[in-house]
Amino acid sequence: MAELIVALDVPGMKEAVEKVRLIGPEVGFYKIGLELFTAAGADVVKAVKDLGKKVFLDLKFHDIPRTVERSVTSVGKFGVDLLTIHASGGAGMVKAAAAAAEAFGAAGPKVLAVTVLTSLDEKDLADIGVSGRSASEQVSTLAALAVSNGAHGLVCSPNEVGALSRSLPAGTIFVTPGIRPAGGAVGDQKRVATPAAAVRDGATHLVVGRPILCAEDPRAAALAVLGERQGA
Ligand code: C5P
Repeated sequence: MAELIVALDVPGMKEAVEKVRLIGPEVGFYKIGLELFTAAGADVVKAVKDLGKKVFLDLKFHDIPRTVERSVTSVGKFGVDLLTIHASGGAGMVKAAAAAAEAFGAAGPKVLAVTVLTSLDEKDLADIGVSGRSASEQVSTLAALAVSNGAHGLVCSPNEVGALSRSLPAGTIFVTPGIRPAGGAVGDQKRVATPAAAVRDGATHLVVGRPILCAEDPRAAALAVLGERQGA
């Protein structure tokens, strides 16, 4: 069963703890991204863990292998369950991240690679020197590089998860943002899928932010997403 991860895109510690408490026991996994981490620091990871939740720390590391390795060790000590790196950091960087995670044993963090940011189109890729290939070809290349060098999984859009889950080894983790409940507001997301469609295509974890956080009743909205996932 794919796991629901609620994106805790809130400005600070107080709001984070309030939302986790309000959403309640059925949701066991929260994503802490750059906005919240840069505002509240490692204390917010500890606070969410202390509430009995798993944490996906989405800081998208991209640096020389030694720096990334040591950073994965640091966040592993906070007890994070999933973390992100940029696959475009190259094979050495991916291997270093995976080795640092593996050093924690089976309960240690799992490393997810981000391939091409969904905010980039083919012109943006050409501007940074990636020309003559589509964004989806670049996604496939980076995904294969990441997984073959030890990444445990990928963050990918609902459009990509079907092809990637067919081409990559069984057991690969596929974390999919851009999830919208059937009939829900899309916001600024351009490529979205319902929870059931993403699960059918191979998503192992669904990331949902605003449809839950901004709902009048966040707990009811989370339960509705869990129900839709169940229907997959
Ligand atoms: O509010 P919403 O459900 O769109 O939030 C999705 C979350 O997933 C946000 O934290 C966003 O930064 C993240 N994300 C995304 N698309 C990506 C990668 C991450 O929406 N390609």
